[in-house]
Amino acid sequence: MKETVVSGIRPTGQLHLGNYFGAVTNFVKMQYDYNCFFFIADLHSLTTHPTPQDLHGYVRHVLVEYLACGINPDESTIYIQSDVPEVAELYLYLNMNAYMGELERSTSFKDKVRAQPDNINAGLLTYPTLMAADILIHKAVKVPVGKDQEQHLEFTRTFGNRFNRLYNNDYFPEAFAFNYSDNLVKVPGLDGKGKMSKSNGEGSCIYLADSPEVIRKKLSRAVTDGGPLTENQVKPEPIQNLFDLMKIVSPADTLAHFEELYNKMAIRYGDFKKQLAEDMIVFNGPIRERIEGLSGDSDYLRKVAEQGAEKARESARKTIREVRALIGFKSF
Ligand code: ADP
Ligand code: TRP
Repeated sequence: MKETVVSGIRPTGQLHLGNYFGAVTNFVKMQYDYNCFFFIADLHSLTTHPTPQDLHGYVRHVLVEYLACGINPDESTIYIQSDVPEVAELYLYLNMNAYMGELERSTSFKDKVRAQPDNINAGLLTYPTLMAADILIHKAVKVPVGKDQEQHLEFTRTFGNRFNRLYNNDYFPEAFAFNYSDNLVKVPGLDGKGKMSKSNGEGSCIYLADSPEVIRKKLSRAVTDGGPLTENQVKPEPIQNLFDLMKIVSPADTLAHFEELYNKMAIRYGDFKKQLAEDMIVFNGPIRERIEGLSGDSDYLRKVAEQGAEKARESARKTIREVRALIGFKSF
């Protein structure tokens, strides 16, 4: 029996290189060795109140981009979270045993409270229970996500184990974050600090669908400094970030060349950023072409979504049936 894998991304816009290297590249590799469920977390995205048009458009972007990155709908189950109402039912059961105190201590909740003080809704507080429902509904054991999601997986294990203890069984397995590289990946942004993330602003992100012109413009604006002051100087964060990005998208000898120039204090950031832009354009090229090809193919997208919903519901229905029996819901 193949191990089960679940992961999802909230539809909040287009996918960027952080999403790709932190999550989607692992989805593509895992689909041949595991029983994979990859979904679009549209219920989660309701916490930020998107308009109906934005919501549909963003779901469509992620579906197209999943396919363009190489997730094969015949190998993996690709579905839209809201097409599987069993997830919402499991979320309700898990919420009964999720405590205010622990939910309030979640780092992502605390970040959101700071970022959107005018919209601290119960959905934000219970985000970890909905995520646990996504994972437990298929009894997954591996979850390909970036480093920032580790605490959510701890919650998932806590809620699964608590359910098991409460109903005196070992129904839910424990799920762990997974990445093919040794450490969970963190792709830096272009704004000189922190990770590539939509919440760090447009300037931080290179989207998979960005045109060559846009990529060149974003790189020309990427944050640098006045240059190294001594030989072999430790790189400050904005510079280290750009080198880390080069390590991801450029050939090894290009990276070595610019490392040497930096260490000899002979680097010209203009040239360095131009080279990084060209290598990103080459990297994005084939994905971008496939995005363009797929985005107009509504018939195919509908077929993929319907087929995925059917397969995901089959698995989810089985879990809900068993969970209901364990809880004690019985028909007369
Ligand atoms: P964003 O921060 O732009 O809102 P999400 O939080 O929606 O992105 O992330 C979706 C997935 O992509 C998650 O699995 C997350 O761990 C991964 N991810 C996002 N940004 C990065 C990054 N900069 N480096 C590594 N993984 C990332
Ligand atoms: N919380 C994840 C993120 O922000 C998205 C997500 C929701 C998810 N449910 C999940 C990821 C289940 C993996 C498994 O990126």
